[in-house]
Amino acid sequence: TRCFNIKFMIGCLLSCLLPFHQTIMPLNNTKHLLVSAYMDQRVKDFDIRIIGIFRRDSIQPLHCFFCCTGYLSKTTPATILQHPDNFGFPFVTTDVMCQIPQNCNATHVTLLTTPDKESPSTDQWLPIRNKDTVGQKEENMQFDFTVCISNLFGDYNNVLQFAQTLEMYKLLGVNRVVIYNTSCGPELNRLLQSYSDEGFVEMVPWPIDKHLNPSRGWLHSEHGGDLHYFGQLTTLNECIYRSMERSRYVLLNDIDEIIMPYQHDDLMSLMNTLQNQHPNVGVFLIENHIFPKKHFEPSGRFHLPQWNGVPGINILEHIYRRTPILENATRFHSMFVGSFMSVALQGSLTLEQLNVDKRLWDFQENLIPNGTKC
Ligand SMILES: *[C@@H]1O[C@H](CO)[C@@H](O)[C@H](O)[C@H]1NC(C)=O
Ligand SMILES: *[C@@H]1O[C@H](CO)[C@@H](O)[C@H](O)[C@H]1NC(C)=O
Ligand SMILES: *[C@@H]1O[C@H](CO)[C@@H](O)[C@H](O)[C@H]1NC(C)=O
Ligand SMILES: *[C@@H]1O[C@H](CO)[C@@H](O)[C@H](O)[C@H]1NC(C)=O
Ligand SMILES: *[C@@H]1O[C@H](CO)[C@@H](O)[C@H](O)[C@H]1NC(C)=O
Repeated sequence: TRCFNIKFMIGCLLSCLLPFHQTIMPLNNTKHLLVSAYMDQRVKDFDIRIIGIFRRDSIQPLHCFFCCTGYLSKTTPATILQHPDNFGFPFVTTDVMCQIPQNCNATHVTLLTTPDKESPSTDQWLPIRNKDTVGQKEENMQFDFTVCISNLFGDYNNVLQFAQTLEMYKLLGVNRVVIYNTSCGPELNRLLQSYSDEGFVEMVPWPIDKHLNPSRGWLHSEHGGDLHYFGQLTTLNECIYRSMERSRYVLLNDIDEIIMPYQHDDLMSLMNTLQNQHPNVGVFLIENHIFPKKHFEPSGRFHLPQWNGVPGINILEHIYRRTPILENATRFHSMFVGSFMSVALQGSLTLEQLNVDKRLWDFQENLIPNGTKC
């Protein structure tokens, strides 16, 4: 039997009571950051997956330490799995796999740099998520579709496009949109607050800039910084685990992308068809199409007065679609479904080289607000 360190025990009990922990936690005595912990028993011999951001040149052996109901466990060895795509940055998304000791009803976990020290002291507990939902049947899940939007940062304030896109997601059958927020512009902040109050949007604080010098680019040799694109690969992975026990499908795309079925009315009928055709497939890749923002639909019928004061792009006004570029880039977020409404990329093509695509207009009645939502 072991002696309990009282201070330690209180820390553990307190954090068991606290409903909320910071999303990014520097791990004591290391250069690493911990994000969250999920029950994940799909891999033999492991129960817990801790998602973190590790400094690649300083990885040391670590030990999993659990807060069980009623007592603190012995440590078990941690298995550290760095993700292969680091793009040359010093920090990389990392999964740490842990085994829960026998007879421990674990509620919280943390990592230590030394095994089973006499009286380890820590207040760095991560609550273990998905504990009560793991392994539940697909039909009991809370949501059909969750969209994961990575990293909002800078003073991004494209309110009109954001609102139209969120409404479009609703019309297509999306139940939840998870957004990782480092910062955003004032009007967009208000809009997100209201969608979050109504429960459609789940805002996850992502103050990565408080801990690292995150890069705005994707390649270290070109853009410098500590971490690829504000930690996009970490947040998208986090979102997959956050969603996997409560949502039948998870869609990874940017906020300027809409996954648009063309032969079905909504995502569920599309997925029913696809799953029938491919019963053993778990991941679908969707082709990207770009709508350059410099070309406007000529009649101006969707240039509506009620949107004049709203900052951002009106996606109903952009109907010219580029033919897809067959590129083989492994952009993580081009995975899954998407008709790509890019505003960032400006094509140099003339109108004649673009295809007219008014698919969005099929949803106009429900997309144009009667009142004053914006
Ligand atoms: C494990 O702990 C949870 C929360 O503290 C509790 O609800 C549950 O009944 C416990 N399970 C067992 C088997 O003790
Ligand atoms: C760990 O770090 C926290 C702050 O993040 C500090 O309050 C605590 O005392 C540290 N614990 C140890 C054992 O270093
Ligand atoms: C987004 O993050 C910023 C910076 O922490 C915060 O001020 C703002 O309230 C957040 N917005 C929402 C809608 O959560
Ligand atoms: C994309 O990758 C596949 C498989 O690696 C290859 O067969 C194909 O030729 C590539 N396409 C292009 C356009 O490079
Ligand atoms: C607009 O008003 C009509 C009739 O009052 C209603 O049926 C429709 O749902 C409303 N649309 C929105 C987007 O609120």
